[in-house]
Amino acid sequence: MDFSEFKIVPFITQTQIEQAVKRMAQNIKSHYGDRVFTAICVLRGSFMFYSDLIRELEGTNLQCDFLGISSYLGAQNTEDIRITLDLSYSINQKHVLVVEDIADTGLTLQFLSQWLEAKKPKSIKFATLLRKPGNAKVQYPIDFVGFDIPDEFVVGYGLDYQDQFRQLPYIAQLQNLI
Ligand code: IMP
Ligand code: MG
Repeated sequence: MDFSEFKIVPFITQTQIEQAVKRMAQNIKSHYGDRVFTAICVLRGSFMFYSDLIRELEGTNLQCDFLGISSYLGAQNTEDIRITLDLSYSINQKHVLVVEDIADTGLTLQFLSQWLEAKKPKSIKFATLLRKPGNAKVQYPIDFVGFDIPDEFVVGYGLDYQDQFRQLPYIAQLQNLI
C-alpha cells in the first residue's frame, strides 16, 4: 500500500483519550464496586484502549479474557460477522463487561450481545471508546462511551485501515487524497 495516498488528520489527542479513559474507568468502578466481573477485550481494534482501561481499574475484582471478531461487508450491504478467537473461560453466571473500540452501525454489538447472551452470563455491559450515532442501523444501548464522533473514518489507538495505522498513540481522521 502506498501511504502517500492518505492524509492523517489528528482528531482526538492523547490527553483527551487519557481523560476519557479515566472517566469511563470511574463509572465502571462505581457500577461494579466489589463484584467480580470479566472484562472482555474485543480483538483486534480494542487492544490499546483495553490495556489502558484495565490499568485504570486497579483495585477492582476483574478477570481478563479475549475475543477475536471480524466483520466483512457482504452482498446486499449486510455484515458477515465471525468469531475468530473464542473466549478462554466460561462466562456462565458471571458479570461481563465487553470492551469495544467503536460502535458504527451497531451490528457488531448486536451480534456480540446475542452471542454472549446465549452463554447465560449474570449481566452484560458494553463499553466503547468511540460511537458514531449518525451511522447507527440498530439502536443498541451502550453503557460506557468515550466520545461521540461524526460519521468519518478514523484510525489510530488500535483502530485500523487494512491493518495499518493501529500504532498511532492518538486518533486521526484518514482522508484519501485521490
Ligand atoms: P459496526 O458497524 O458497529 O458493526 O462496526 C464494525 C467494525 O467496523 C468496528 O468494530 C470497527 O472494527 C470497524 N469500524 C467502524 N468504523 C470504523 C472507523 O471509523 N475506523 C476503523 N474501523 C471502523
Ligand atoms: Mg472492532
